[in-house]
Amino acid sequence: MRRLLPDVADDVDLAEAYAEAARHRVDGRPWLLVNMIASLDGAIALGERSGGLGGPPDQRVFQQLRDLADVIIVGAGTARAERYGPPRRPGLRIGVVTRRANLDWTMPLFSSGAGFVITTEDAPSVPVDAVRAGHGEVDLAGALAQLDHELALCEGGPTLNGDLLTADLIDEWCLTISPLLAGGTAGRAAMSATEHPHPFRTAQLLAEGGFLFLRALRSR
Ligand SMILES: NC(=O)c1ccc[n+]([C@@H]2O[C@H](COP(=O)([O-])OP(=O)(O)OC[C@H]3O[C@@H](n4cnc5c(N)ncnc54)[C@H](OP(=O)(O)O)[C@@H]3O)[C@@H](O)[C@H]2O)c1
Repeated sequence: MRRLLPDVADDVDLAEAYAEAARHRVDGRPWLLVNMIASLDGAIALGERSGGLGGPPDQRVFQQLRDLADVIIVGAGTARAERYGPPRRPGLRIGVVTRRANLDWTMPLFSSGAGFVITTEDAPSVPVDAVRAGHGEVDLAGALAQLDHELALCEGGPTLNGDLLTADLIDEWCLTISPLLAGGTAGRAAMSATEHPHPFRTAQLLAEGGFLFLRALRSR
């Protein structure tokens, strides 16, 4: 892996590259790092899944971020589309954000005990652990505050990212740019009904095998 920013270096150690001193609880909730992959033209899926955009370098960064995470959160649409299973690391849990709380509880993510849901106070009862906050809509800040961790990794998708962005809860944004043009109608990495331009500063840019790995921190 080659580092292009903030300085140029070869054979960068991934664990060192993705270390970040600022990752501690902020405003009574875990630091929130979002990790996404997109094509050169901004598509976040091919055939409704992100796998076709990736490759071995991207898998290494994806896994490195999972190694750092204390907990993962993901939107229900992504958990369904990507057929989420339990993470490789024992004890690491994945919270699926859902309003309807109508998921396939037999899927390995839940049957393994690794999965839990993050939903509203008034959503139906569920046969797995649940963090509940808000009525009608998930109060994302309130739900995150209930997670007793330093670092939460969000793996998308665009709807959840857009809601997190709207609530200004994103502290760090990791974006892999895949060396292909996709066309098509796939959405972007964060989508919301209205625009919420929040400034970030680029902390790092890595490159390997044609992939670019951008890491940006929220300017507060
Ligand atoms: N390129 C990448 O890195 C990447 C990463 C992730 C996903 N993706 C792609 O993104 C696509 C899925 O997009 P998506 O926008 O549907 O994903 P999503 O954000 O994961 O899922 C949307 C669903 O998640 C739940 N949800 C999201 N935000 C919520 C909130 N604030 N409160 C309550 N529930 C919330 C709702 O589920 P309920 O309907 O259950 O209420 C909603 O219908 C897939 O094609 C996937 O492959 C790409």
